[in-house]
Amino acid sequence: MSFSDKDRLGRRNQLVDRYDRHLNYLRISVTDRCNLSCLYCAPRRGGQIPPKLNHEEVLRYEEILRLVRIGAELGISKVRVTGGEPLVRKDLPKFIKELSKIEAISDISLTTNGVLLLKYLDRLKETGIRRLNISLDTLNRKKFEKITGQNSFEKVWAGIMAAHEMGFFPIKINAVAMKGINDDEFMDLARLSLRYPFSIRFIEHMPIGDSASAGGRISADEIIERISSVGRVIPVAHESHDGPAVRYRFEDAPGEIGLIQPMSHHFCGQCNRLRLTANGHLRPCLLHDREIDLKALLREGATDSELAERFLEAVHFKPLRHYLAEKGERVNSRMSAIGG
Ligand code: GTP
Ligand code: 5AD
Repeated sequence: MSFSDKDRLGRRNQLVDRYDRHLNYLRISVTDRCNLSCLYCAPRRGGQIPPKLNHEEVLRYEEILRLVRIGAELGISKVRVTGGEPLVRKDLPKFIKELSKIEAISDISLTTNGVLLLKYLDRLKETGIRRLNISLDTLNRKKFEKITGQNSFEKVWAGIMAAHEMGFFPIKINAVAMKGINDDEFMDLARLSLRYPFSIRFIEHMPIGDSASAGGRISADEIIERISSVGRVIPVAHESHDGPAVRYRFEDAPGEIGLIQPMSHHFCGQCNRLRLTANGHLRPCLLHDREIDLKALLREGATDSELAERFLEAVHFKPLRHYLAEKGERVNSRMSAIGG
């Protein structure tokens, strides 16, 4: 059974949790595979890449689209495509094109490590997508290899430059802050915002899966202190669709600085997110492992209404906040399957 017109009207904006947070944002991990193995995400152990899901465990595109349509009926209007590395999955631009046909979805964005960006930019542009978040933790080729396991800095940089020239906007650069690894580069990374209209985001490392905080965690307050030596840092007013980053800019800079500080200043109160993991689980909080296995239900023949009920259930158990910093806990699931 699919939704009747009455259901459609009745079900809009149903995704309000127990703490009155309105969830309108679904982040979809389309694969847990990645062409990099970053220290903070999916590091190699004894030279081995972390285990991956089997092909049949990963949701098919048609299955994801069905779930997004159901989510859209309930009030999802914003979607981010993540991974692993989403561009390693075959036909990703085609999938994004299909997503863009879902009427209620007004905003689609992509988080990528940038290695394959240059190759896919034309096809991505055709899909209508403009918002790109690209991971780049260093501007140094050797260090890039140390952090990611691949000598691909030039490819990523060329992808970023080409995306900028082709009019992708906003381009957000994600740098996970790691003591003793890239903390000597915060000023250089921040300076990119003086030259380009990019948002350079420094992210506190979160203890998820097998990831290591490398040289140790570094707080957003320390980061802002360091980049203040580049120039006066001016706060930028928070807008409702901003997401987790606290925004700043240097005087007259075309770009911005963002601080994403889940450990030192959690932003759970403003969370508007649900996640669909690569293996088809609906996860109401990045930092809590409780999920609902939608793939099993889908494949057992569940109706749209039954799946919609499971969305509501997940919203109901979305926790108030995480306590990773206070309790020193870790999240067991792998970041590469959740999508960050
Ligand atoms: P937009 O606001 O849509 O630009 O997305 P974003 O900044 O959330 O997306 P991105 O995928 O670039 O994530 C940036 C960093 O924020 C990553 O390290 C994510 O893991 C982290 N992040 C994103 N969402 C959440 C969240 O709900 N909770 C926590 N704790 N961290 C998050
Ligand atoms: N802590 C913080 N951020 C992380 N990312 C991946 N793993 C971690 C982690 N353990 C970031 C990457 C990517 C984004 C989606 O998540 O920088 O850009």
